[in-house]
Amino acid sequence: MLRFKLLVFIAAFLVISNITLAQQPSIAQKVDALMKKMTLAEKIGQLNQVNGDWEATGPVTADVGNKLEQIKRGEIGSVLNIVGVNHTRAFQDAAMHSRLKIPLLFGQDVIHGYSITFPIPLGEAASWDIPAIERSARIAGTEAAAGGVHWTFAPMVDIARDPRWGRVMEGAGEDPYLGSQIARARVKGFQGNGLGSLDAIMACAKHYAAYGAAVGGRDYNSVDMSLHTLWEVYLPPFKAAEEAGAATFMNSFNSLNGTPATASSYLQRDVLKGKWGFKGFVVSDWNSIGEMVPHGYAKDNYQAAEFALKAGNDMDMESRSYINNLAKLVADKKVSVAMIDDAVRRILTKKFEMGLFDDPYRYSNADREKSVLNRPEHVAAARDIARKSIVLLKNQGQVLPLSKNLNSIALIGPLVKSKGEMKGFWSLDVGDVSQVVSLYEGMQQAAGNTKLLYVKGCDITDTSHAGFNEAYKTAMQADVVIMAMGERSDMTGEAKSRANIHIPGVQEELIQKIMSTGKPVVVLLMAGRPMVFNWTADHVPAILYTWWLGNQAGNAIADVLYGNYNPGAKLPMTFPRTEGQIPIYYNHYSTGRPPQNDNDVNYTSAYIDLPNSPKFAFGYGLSYSTFGYSNLKLSKKSIHNNEKITVSFDLKNTGKYAGEEVAQLYLRQLVSQPVRPVKELKGFEKVMLQPGETKTITFTIDKEKLSFYNDQLVWGAQPGEFKLMIGSASDDIRLEGGFELL
Ligand code: GLC
Repeated sequence: MLRFKLLVFIAAFLVISNITLAQQPSIAQKVDALMKKMTLAEKIGQLNQVNGDWEATGPVTADVGNKLEQIKRGEIGSVLNIVGVNHTRAFQDAAMHSRLKIPLLFGQDVIHGYSITFPIPLGEAASWDIPAIERSARIAGTEAAAGGVHWTFAPMVDIARDPRWGRVMEGAGEDPYLGSQIARARVKGFQGNGLGSLDAIMACAKHYAAYGAAVGGRDYNSVDMSLHTLWEVYLPPFKAAEEAGAATFMNSFNSLNGTPATASSYLQRDVLKGKWGFKGFVVSDWNSIGEMVPHGYAKDNYQAAEFALKAGNDMDMESRSYINNLAKLVADKKVSVAMIDDAVRRILTKKFEMGLFDDPYRYSNADREKSVLNRPEHVAAARDIARKSIVLLKNQGQVLPLSKNLNSIALIGPLVKSKGEMKGFWSLDVGDVSQVVSLYEGMQQAAGNTKLLYVKGCDITDTSHAGFNEAYKTAMQADVVIMAMGERSDMTGEAKSRANIHIPGVQEELIQKIMSTGKPVVVLLMAGRPMVFNWTADHVPAILYTWWLGNQAGNAIADVLYGNYNPGAKLPMTFPRTEGQIPIYYNHYSTGRPPQNDNDVNYTSAYIDLPNSPKFAFGYGLSYSTFGYSNLKLSKKSIHNNEKITVSFDLKNTGKYAGEEVAQLYLRQLVSQPVRPVKELKGFEKVMLQPGETKTITFTIDKEKLSFYNDQLVWGAQPGEFKLMIGSASDDIRLEGGFELL
């Protein structure tokens, strides 16, 4: 009887709760109800985003009046570049004084960390460790959400093939497949268990689109490319971000084939909101609406606002074109209220999803801010991914790992004791820079009884050789020399294009001077981009590319130097021999006259004064171990439409250190119309192996992996023969096979 009564109770509860739930208005209904109350001016206010009173991340517009008063009048819907519980509360207070009390969205460039700074995104991409990359974004999102931030302007998913462009540091390099995997991971990391979770922030896929293909690598410059290349190379990571549920997109400063991206209805309405069905909202980049005027696309901000709204740009960052012109554009019947309503609906939907109407201050909680920031387990994760991002470019004569029994090590170079530089561009000042571990401090922790000798030797960019002799003498006293060389962290980032990407100043001369001592030398190269360093690459026995590794830089580098962590990272971007080779990337077309080897200039597509290969290839990176590839097997030699091929091979650690290898799968369709690249990354597996251990790795090839956008932009696979390549780098293929799509 009791059981029966229990069942009845449960059934009743479920029925009542379902009725209650059914009575709860949906978010769409809440948005509609709110919009019915809003005036046109209040709707337009929701489309207006302004910079806070702190650092500006773009050219500052003329005096724009009292923002708090504007917020109270409902003229501002979002503010960027204010962080911290107290500051965000103050701005949200102003919004709570507006007529309808519509909460503000707070946006911030949480690109690679909030209080704890992680490696720059290009560095993390070198880890090829998707779970670690997702965890890094998860921690950044958790910290940011505890600091009052609702929305990060990340991940930046721009494919970049030109290291002169400073923003390569912000993305995932040159490859669409790797870039898509990483875009997905970063969106999921930032958004965690979904919008509304107290530790989740809205992601923003940017810069839509093709920003990385700016002419000459000059930031903000124009982009001209076929739609075929746009779809094959530059859009895939954006599609991946959209599929992963990115809450927002940000369009880009560049024009694409003559139309500024912010004014591109093709990109924003046809593709993003149309073909891909994107339900979030699009924010312009900083003043990119207003920049239609200098582009020569709009005659004034009035026309720019018309073009932007019609093209599908929902929110106006910092140009004030919308707040100043949309009401008149409606009155002039240039734009419809319906178009404004669509943008407002998209934005309000996100504010509801974030729970801001339930509690506008829910992310601005002082206790949570105190308890969440800088947690030891998050610091440990920062160290972990920093180690995983370090690329071992060379280790001739096994100079590395260092012995713990050395008498002394000379630490030489302008970046040995740097802390702030380790954070790289697009890092925030939330965390205390004293928490950043310099190389020197990391070595102090790790070196045991080994004596550390330090001398700077030279500065990063100046031309003085005054410190060379002292550096030489110091090196002569040591068993091993470690040199920390590279850029200043503000030399790569936004508006930081470099025509000369050599190691700056006289640093490479100092490396030559120290090499003349005959001592074993390890060079650490710290930068936000691939640099050119041919002499160093050809003469120094051990080289690590450490990017900017963030808070745990010194510890991570020491872990690798001493072999506490065996490096396994791989380059996410090609390193050219010289600027003259740019653009150079691995997934290029064959051409009608492909060089047969590195020095073939006999009527081939080559330079007569340079080998054809890059200095270091996409996917390249060494380990203290070596790895053997064998026993390639394909389950079929040919497949029809929906069949699959299982590819397997054995991967063995043939060295004496446990270590990780990133085994890479490349495919090439031998004949197709239009032509296809000589190879394309279509899979990878990062595998930890003990010395002597063998694992069988498998990849599955299906029609999706063989499909591409043809010159009519139709996605599909063409029957034909395929070459299959498996290797340790794009230029280090270990196993080859073939199959046919019938
Ligand atoms: C900058 C950048 C963009 C950033 C925005 C806000 O100009 O282009 O990536 O998110 O402005 O800081």
